[in-house]
This record gives sequence, C-alpha cells and structure tokens, in this order.
Amino acid sequence: MTIEIRELDYTNFSEVRDFLIGHEYTWRDSDPSTFQPKSEEKRDESATKFMERKESDPEREGGIIAYDGSRMIGSHRLEVWNIDHEKACHIHGLWVDPEYRGRGIALEMKKLGEKWAMEHGCKIMDSNVKVSNENMITLNEKMGYTVARFNYRKRLDCK
Ligand SMILES: CC(C)(COP(=O)(O)OP(=O)(O)OC[C@H]1O[C@@H](n2cnc3c(N)ncnc32)[C@H](O)[C@@H]1OP(=O)(O)O)[C@@H](O)C(=O)NCCC(=O)NCCS
Repeated sequence: MTIEIRELDYTNFSEVRDFLIGHEYTWRDSDPSTFQPKSEEKRDESATKFMERKESDPEREGGIIAYDGSRMIGSHRLEVWNIDHEKACHIHGLWVDPEYRGRGIALEMKKLGEKWAMEHGCKIMDSNVKVSNENMITLNEKMGYTVARFNYRKRLDCK
C-alpha cells in the first residue's frame, strides 16, 4: 500500500470532485444528524464551480488530498481570509477514511495545510471544532492550536 498525501491538482476535474466528496464526509462523520449527501449532479456542479473560482482567484482556496492508489482516503480544505486584520487560513474540513484512521494521515495533511498557508502569507490557522469531537480536539492541541473563542448556543422552547 502506497499512501500519497499532497496538494490537490486543481486542474484535474475528477480529483477536485474526490476532494469535495471527502469534504462532504467531514460533515457526514463529524455531525451525522445533520448530514445530507449531495446528488451526483450537484457534485459535478460543485467541482466545476471550485475549478472556476480557483482559476479566477488562485490564491484564495486550497486543498490537500490523500490517495491509496486510486482510492481517495483523505481531504483537507482550506481558504485564505482575514482575522483581526491579519491574513489567516481557515480550515473548512479535514477527513480521513475510517479504514485509514489512527495512522497519522490527518496529522500529515494538517502539516501540509500549514505549509500551504505559510506559502500564501498566512499568519494564523483558524478552525471550528464541535465540543464533542474529542479526536479533533486532541489532534489540534497536539499541533499547538489553542482555543480562541467560545460559541454559545441555547435551544429555544418553541413549537
Ligand atoms: C479527526 C480525524 C481527521 C483524525 O484522522 P486520523 O488520520 O485518524 O488522525 P491521525 O492518525 O493523524 O491522529 C493524529 C493525532 O490525533 C489524535 N487522534 C486522532 N484520532 C484519535 C482517536 N480516535 N482517539 C484519540 N486521539 C486521536 C491523536 O493525538 C493522534 O496522535 P497519536 O496517534 O500520536 O495519539 C478523523 O477521525 C476523521 O476524519 N474524523 C471525522 C471527520 C472529522 O471529525 N473531522 C474534523 C472536523 S472539525
């Protein structure tokens, strides 16, 4: 088994499509109660739009992908934006195929994500994690991430 972890080929439609499916699975596996899979047509459309955005604004969005042969087994989605007047890299998603977890693949993808962010002039990495996602909290803390803000919610008693 040869696992390849690298930056996404933004010009390759099927790779971009795989990457976005992996991104969908971030939501499927971290919050199954709210997950709604995209249709195949919608996946095609999303990949086309991603490639168009990349062409018109090459510095803004990035991706790291992991393959085992032709099987996509990991996806890490990034976007450059501003936080407190500083250039920052927001992490939109990180997913590793359940069969491949616990082997350091997410750690490696996050390292490449940070490299990508630095190459794009970012001074901060930024991400949101559910309080119930212990694996991701542990991984972030292991890599030196600290809590920057709390997100308060209250369920309302309405019909
Ligand atoms: C979170 C996730 C990306 C981790 O992927 P992974 O490839 O298994 O992670 P790694 O093997 O690189 O683990 C790196 C470190 O993360 C922490 N970690 C990851 N999985 C863990 C687990 N099941 N239990 C405890 N710690 C864990 C550990 O510190 C681990 O280092 P160690 O192996 O030296 O202890 C994967 O579980 C996943 O895809 N989850 C569903 C999607 C998700 O929740 N994404 C994040 C949304 S914010």
